[in-house]
Amino acid sequence: MRGADVVEMALKTARLYRGVDKILYTEGGFHCKTMGVLSVTGNKKYQSGFGSLLTGCECIPLGNYPAVEKKLQNETYAAFILEPIQAEGGIRIPPQGYLKKVEELCKNKGVLLIVDEIQTGLG
Ligand SMILES: Cc1ncc(COP(=O)(O)O)c(C=O)c1O
Repeated sequence: MRGADVVEMALKTARLYRGVDKILYTEGGFHCKTMGVLSVTGNKKYQSGFGSLLTGCECIPLGNYPAVEKKLQNETYAAFILEPIQAEGGIRIPPQGYLKKVEELCKNKGVLLIVDEIQTGLG
């Protein structure tokens, strides 16, 4: 199974389980180029030219905890998807403690945290 299929399935599972559409994703994040996954791939170079992508997908900067907090306080999300270290986006590492805090916040809010380790899990 391809990484893209796995991420598609994670997005579908999150929407089905939570019963809401909204998904948060990160600027510079890469999850591949199939239509669903493209909707949460934070790079206009890949997203543009294909018409409407999935609705309800919102992009926030990687590593900015207050931005996640603000979003999750104001709206109900199915999931937050991110790479623990962005690879395609240029090896970008979020600040120390960010992932732990995001995990706790998502748990408290019942939002599924989708951690795409398709690159970082290698080796
Ligand atoms: C973080 C990440 N997620 C998903 C994918 C998609 O994986 P695949 O090419 O196996 O579909 C990639 C591919 O580079 C990736 O880097």
